[in-house]
Amino acid sequence: MLIRDETPGDAPVIGRLVTEALLLLAQSTGTEARIVEALRAEGALALSLVAEDAGEVIGYLAASAARIETQDGWGLIGPLVVAPSRHRQGIGTALMAQALRRLRTTCRGAALVGDPAYYGRFGFRAFPGLGVAGCPPEVVQALPFDGVAPCGELIHHPAFGLDQPA
Ligand SMILES: CC(C)(COP(=O)(O)OP(=O)(O)OC[C@H]1O[C@@H](n2cnc3c(N)ncnc32)[C@H](O)[C@@H]1OP(=O)(O)O)[C@@H](O)C(=O)NCCC(=O)NCCS
Repeated sequence: MLIRDETPGDAPVIGRLVTEALLLLAQSTGTEARIVEALRAEGALALSLVAEDAGEVIGYLAASAARIETQDGWGLIGPLVVAPSRHRQGIGTALMAQALRRLRTTCRGAALVGDPAYYGRFGFRAFPGLGVAGCPPEVVQALPFDGVAPCGELIHHPAFGLDQPA
């Protein structure tokens, strides 16, 4: 298995994979593939990593620039998806490890909205006062690379607004 940057031909298969993998998730809005397309169209994908095995794309991770309150320099991870037939083979972990390695060189920390039971293993956790409007605070998590606790509203790229009702 290889983790590599997205190349131009990958976009359609990434879209299908994101849609297929997130169908399993109760809180999925069904708009995640469009969010990735919008981030790509705006040149806002700080990271767009694919996991490939035998020429097939089996996993995907996106990261984009975010702020916490007024503090720039955060990397927002999401979506992270693995093909349902390939779960529990370490693919999500491999994508995350590479993403964190890369973000450490450019960002003050990484943040995401997701299941703490999964992301805790990578060092992500909730912080008092860290939040996203409309999300339970326990799912809003950060991993500050300098160890300084973040506080305030996590502000992601406007493309994520595609999952809000118009
Ligand atoms: C979550 C996801 C990316 C994990 O990918 P993966 O390649 O299966 O994960 P890994 O093989 O690296 O790690 C598997 C471990 O995580 C655990 N795990 C996976 N999803 C979990 C969850 N939602 N909560 C708790 N643990 C979880 C597995 O039980 C396994 O634990 P073990 O190693 O102790 O057996 C994948 O299951 C997926 O695409 N799910 C649907 C989309 C999704 O939920 N994305 C995250 C929100 S954007």
